[in-house]
Parts: sequence; structure tokens; C-alpha cells
Amino acid sequence: MKILVTGGAGFIGSHIAEYYSKRGEEVIVYDNLSRAEILGKEMKNITYIWDYLREKHPGITLLKYDIRDLERLRETVEGVDVIFHTAAQTAVTTSVIDPQIDFSVNVEGTFNVLQVARESKKKPAIIFCSTNKVYGDNVNSIRVIEEEKHYRFEDKYDKGVPENFPIDLCEHTPYGCSKLTGDIYTQDYGHLYGLKIGVFRMSCIYGEKQFGVEDQGWVAHFVISTLLGRPITIYGDGKQVRDVLYVTDLIEAYDRFLTSDLKLGVFNIGGGHKNKISLLELLDIIAESTGKRSEIRFADWRPSDQKVYISNLSRIKQLLGWEPKTDIKLGIKNLIDWVVKNKEIF
Ligand SMILES: NC(=O)c1ccc[n+]([C@@H]2O[C@H](COP(=O)([O-])OP(=O)(O)OC[C@H]3O[C@@H](n4cnc5c(N)ncnc54)[C@H](O)[C@@H]3O)[C@@H](O)[C@H]2O)c1
Repeated sequence: MKILVTGGAGFIGSHIAEYYSKRGEEVIVYDNLSRAEILGKEMKNITYIWDYLREKHPGITLLKYDIRDLERLRETVEGVDVIFHTAAQTAVTTSVIDPQIDFSVNVEGTFNVLQVARESKKKPAIIFCSTNKVYGDNVNSIRVIEEEKHYRFEDKYDKGVPENFPIDLCEHTPYGCSKLTGDIYTQDYGHLYGLKIGVFRMSCIYGEKQFGVEDQGWVAHFVISTLLGRPITIYGDGKQVRDVLYVTDLIEAYDRFLTSDLKLGVFNIGGGHKNKISLLELLDIIAESTGKRSEIRFADWRPSDQKVYISNLSRIKQLLGWEPKTDIKLGIKNLIDWVVKNKEIF
């Protein structure tokens, strides 16, 4: 099987590339390394993932190209069986500062991926990395109850947000809008042109090789900052809750979809109600495991921040028989071990 991973030099894409390469599949990573450049302002070794893939998986083809380059994309996609479309402008904050770049990468770039897939003789399956941000501020219409260290949804939504939750008549942020556009377009290419399409509306994914910074990847950002003795700013009161999912569990879900008979699947995916955690609770787990705590500073809530987000996993469980396997404490320990081993790159 020939697999194309757009954004394959990023966190999730690199795990996908590694997973299929280990299985003996032919893998192409297609990434313009723009994330690495952004991280260059904060990290020392910005080509870590690229170098890692080249050294550990020499069979993977690494292409440094942009998804907005339609011709490159078209020639690359020929003969490909599956496209994992992970490439994106991934930070909400950046999208607010520069919505144009967000639109161009997330909407035009995604449209290009769909077009070349449609034109390709192989009609590859597409996995689109969508986000819980497609539900925007509507999530904040669910009543939340405040507890000592976390908020929780009212009982009716105890199991989380389902796929048929309203997506419009609310604020989204430009990132939420551009990802929602990609999400709906991708579904439509399934309906209209018969491509096998999996849209995964992902909550917080975490794991090794995640270069979390304040803008994106909060679990890794908290772990890295704590281990390096850097202060952490919490926007809001720290009681906001997310359902966190370990990255290899996510890839198992993608793979289950690809091997299923479903032609079109739209799934909310995250750690679900069993793997929900607040920022304050994560800091406690990190302190338990490392004996360290960063200095914490508090600042105002960020635009459209959701007080609680939990993915309702009923649909994915029913249709793919998938459930998260990795317990939060184990996943966090793996992430801590990776940061400790690689301290010099941050
Ligand atoms: N990590 C999460 O918790 C999470 C949650 C919800 C959705 N997502 C989505 O999952 C996908 C992957 O996220 P991630 O955490 O791995 O992000 P990431 O930033 O680590 O990876 C994205 C990769 O895309 C590349 N890229 C950006 N613009 C590009 C372009 N124009 N052409 C080619 N490559 C380009 C970047 O260089 C980067 O390597 C994204 O689509 C994101 O929106 C992630």
C-alpha cells in the first residue's frame, strides 16, 4: 500500500508515517516544514522529526513541499492508495492574528488535496484531521458545574459532545472556520466523487515528539515547561477540561476506519469521558511523576475557549469497535520519559 502523509514532519503525521513504515508500507511524507520554522523561535533543534524519520526510517520518502503547490501535489499523489491529510496551520492564536495564512493553508491547501485525489486514477481514501473546534462556541452553551479543580458538563452531556451537535450560529475563530470548511468539503468529496472519506474531529492528542508550545499542544507544553523549569501561563482559571488521547490510539482508530467497509465516516475522537482532565489536574500528575512544579501565572480567557470539551465516543465505538487504550498516567509518563531523554533539543 502506498501512503501519503501531508504534514508528515509534524507530531501526528510523523507517528502515522512511522506506524505504516514499520508495517512495511510505502510511505511518502510531504511537509513544507513551516511548523519547524515557527518552533525555531522557541526550540533548539527544529528539524528533530525530519531527522528522526530520515535516520530511523530510511525507507520513507521525505518531500519538502507545500500543499498549496498544486502541481507538486498532483504528481506526488499519483499511485497513492491512502492520503492522511494532517498538514495545517494548527494554532488558534495564529489564526486570529493572521486569518489569511490560516485560510490559505487550511482551506485552499485542503481543497488541493481533495482535487488531486479526485483526479487521481487510484481514487485514494482520505483521512482528514478535523477538530472539536468545528462546534465552536456552541460547546459553551452546555451548562457546566464548577468543582474544586475542574468544570464538568451537566449530566445530560456527561458522556460528551456527539457528532450531531450544532455547528453554526456561534463564534469559531478563523481556525475553527477553516477546519470546518475542510471538514465539510472533505465529506462532500466522499458524497459526490465516491472517495472513501474518514473525518476525525479530534480533541487533544498528546504523546512523544509533540513540541507543545503555549499556542498548541498544551499537554506537552506543560510537561516540557515543568521539566525545563520554565513558568507556565494559564489562560482562564485552569479548571477547563479536555479529553486527552494518546497518539498511537488515534492511529489505531484511523486504521480501523480504513479497513472497515464504511465509505464515509465522521467521528468525534478523543480520550472520552474516561480520559478527561483539567489543566490543574494535569499539573498535579506531572508533579507526582517528576517531583517538579513550574511557577504558574494566570491570564484572561482566550477567545472562544471551551470550558469543557469531551468527545462522545459512542458512534466510533459502535461503528469501528474502537476505544482508547492508553491510560492518562501511562501516556504522560511516556511523554515525560521522551522529554527527559531529549532535553537538549528544547
Ligand atoms: N494535536 C492535536 O491535539 C490536534 C487536535 C485537533 C486537530 N488536530 C489537527 O491534526 C493535524 C495535525 O496536527 P499536529 O498536532 O500534528 O500539528 P503539527 O503542527 O505538529 O503538524 C502539522 C504539519 O503540517 C505542516 N504544514 C503546515 N502547513 C503546510 C503546508 N502549507 N504544506 C505542507 N505542510 C504544511 C507543518 O510543517 C507541520 O509539520 C492538523 O490538521 C490539526 O489541525 C490536531
